[in-house]
Amino acid sequence: MDGLVVAGGGTLDGRGRALWACRQRGQRDCPTPTSTLTIANSKDVVVAGLRSVDSELFHVVVLQCHGVTVRGVTVEAPADSPNTDGIHLHMSTHVSVYDARISTGDDCISIGPGNSHLWIERVACGPGHGIRKVPAEELGGRKAKPTCSRAGGDSGMERERQAVARNRKVVLRGYIDRAPREEDMELVDGGAVELRVPEGGGGPAVLVKNLYLSCDPYMRGRMRDFRNSYIPPFKPGSPIEGFGVGRVVDSTHPGFSAGDVVSGMTGWEDYSLITKPEQLRKIQQSDIPLSYHLGLLGMPGFTAYVGFYEICSPKKGEFVFVSAASGAVGQIVGQLAKLHGCYVVGSAGTDQKVELLKEKFGFDAAFNYKEEPDLTAALKRHFPEGIDIYFENVGGPMLDAVLLNMRVHGRIAVCGMVSQHGVTAPAGIHNLFSLISKRIEMKGFIQSDYVHLFPQFVDDITRHYRDGKIVYVEDMSVGLESGPASFVGLFSGKNVGKQVVCVSRD
Ligand SMILES: NC(=O)c1ccc[n+]([C@@H]2O[C@H](COP(=O)([O-])OP(=O)(O)OC[C@H]3O[C@@H](n4cnc5c(N)ncnc54)[C@H](OP(=O)(O)O)[C@@H]3O)[C@@H](O)[C@H]2O)c1
Repeated sequence: MDGLVVAGGGTLDGRGRALWACRQRGQRDCPTPTSTLTIANSKDVVVAGLRSVDSELFHVVVLQCHGVTVRGVTVEAPADSPNTDGIHLHMSTHVSVYDARISTGDDCISIGPGNSHLWIERVACGPGHGIRKVPAEELGGRKAKPTCSRAGGDSGMERERQAVARNRKVVLRGYIDRAPREEDMELVDGGAVELRVPEGGGGPAVLVKNLYLSCDPYMRGRMRDFRNSYIPPFKPGSPIEGFGVGRVVDSTHPGFSAGDVVSGMTGWEDYSLITKPEQLRKIQQSDIPLSYHLGLLGMPGFTAYVGFYEICSPKKGEFVFVSAASGAVGQIVGQLAKLHGCYVVGSAGTDQKVELLKEKFGFDAAFNYKEEPDLTAALKRHFPEGIDIYFENVGGPMLDAVLLNMRVHGRIAVCGMVSQHGVTAPAGIHNLFSLISKRIEMKGFIQSDYVHLFPQFVDDITRHYRDGKIVYVEDMSVGLESGPASFVGLFSGKNVGKQVVCVSRD
C-alpha cells in the first residue's frame, strides 16, 4: 500500500497476557502469536501517535517497505513478556523512527537483515533491551519469522531500485507579462516514475525526492518570454524550476549516493532527475532545519551576506535602511547590520511584520510603508541625519524617496525591485540627480557572481545562528499543490519571512 497515514492517536491492544499465561502454564494448545501491526510491501507510510499495548509478539513490524515514518508512538508491554519487540525493521529502506517511548519485555527496536537508510532519533527505551541488530538466524529460530513472501530472490535494495512512484508536477501554463496568478500554474499528474536513474541517459545523473521547495521573486522573471536575462525562461508545460532540498533516491554520479540530502536547482515535482548534479550541494544533517538551506543558509541568506558586505562596504555606526525587511533576504541584512554596529531601520507591508522587525530581528526602528502617505517624510523622520546605506529590495517610489534622504558618499545596493515585477510599464525614478550631488554609489548585483564566498558565508552564518546572534523566520506551506498560491503570495506580501513549500518531510 502506498501513501497510507495512520494517525490521530488510539490504542492497539494485542491482549498478549492470555497467551503468555497459557505458555507459562505449559499448555501445548496455546494459539500461535501474532504481531499487532505489520506494514508490509508498502511505500511512503506514516504511523503517528499510536499506542500499542501487550502485543503477543512484535508490536510494530515494518517489512519490505520503502519510506516509512513512525513518529510519536508509545509501546507498552510487561518487562517479563516474551519476544515483544517494540518496533521491528526488516528488509526496508528509508525508515525513520522519532519520538517514541518503548517499554517491552524484549528489544526496544530490533533491526533485522536487509535494511538500509534507517534514522532513529529521540527514542526512550526500557525496560527491555535497547536498539539491537538481530541476525537472520535468530529471527528464524527464537522468534517467529515474518511471513510475507517476496517476488523473485532480490534484496531489499534491489527492490528499491525497481520501485516506481507517481510523480506530480506544477507546470507553467504559458508565458505572462503581468503579476503572476495561481492559474498561471497547474498541478498535473506526471504519471509513474521509476525510482532509478535511467540507463544510457548520456552522463551521470541523480534522482532526488523533493522535500522542500523555495519560492523566490526572481522566478517571476522566468515566466516571461524573455531570453536576454541572466537566467532563461521556464518552458511552458514543464515543471517550474527553483531551489530545493531533496533526498537522493538513486545516483550514477560518484559524488552522491542514495540517502544523501542535497540542495540545489530542482523541479516543482515529487521526484526530479538532476542531469547536472555538479550544481548540487550535499547537506550534512545537523541541528539546523533542512528547509533553512533554502533561506538562512541558502540563496537568500547568501544574497544578504554578499550584498551587505561586498556592495554596501558598511562601517560601524552607519545608518542603514532595508526595504522588504522582514522577507527572506531583508531579515538577514538587518541582523548583519546590527551585528556590525549600525543603526538599522526596516520597512514592511503590515503592522505584524513591523513588530517582527523590532521585536524578533532587533531592528532599531521599522515602519509600515503602506500606512505612510509620504515616504520621503517617513524616511526623514527615521533618519534625521540621512541614510548611509540603502539595501534596495523593492524599487519604485521607495527608491525615489530614499534618494532624497541619502547622505554624501552613501551606498545603495540594488538587490531587487519586487514592486516592479507585476507592472508592464516600470515606474520612472525622478531623483537620480542625488547620485551626483551626494556622490552616491549605486550598484546592482547578482549573488551568483560571488559564489567563491559561499563557504565563508556558510561558516559565518552557521556560527552566528548557533551562537544565537541570528534568528530566522520562515513561512512554510504544506503540499506540492500549495506551491502556486505560496509563490503568488510573495507579490502581495502574504509571506511572513522566507516562503518555502514542504513537499515531503522524509
Ligand atoms: N540580486 C540577487 O542576487 C537577489 C537574490 C535574491 C533575491 N533578490 C531580490 O531581493 C528582494 C527580496 O527577495 P526575498 O526573497 O527576500 O523576498 P521576500 O522579501 O521574502 O518576499 C517578497 C516581499 O516583497 C514585498 N513586496 C511585494 N510586493 C511589493 C510591492 N509592490 N512594494 C513593496 N514591497 C513589496 C512583500 O513584503 P511586504 O509585506 O513588506 O510588502 C513580500 O513579502 C526581491 O526583490 C528579490 O528579487 C535578489
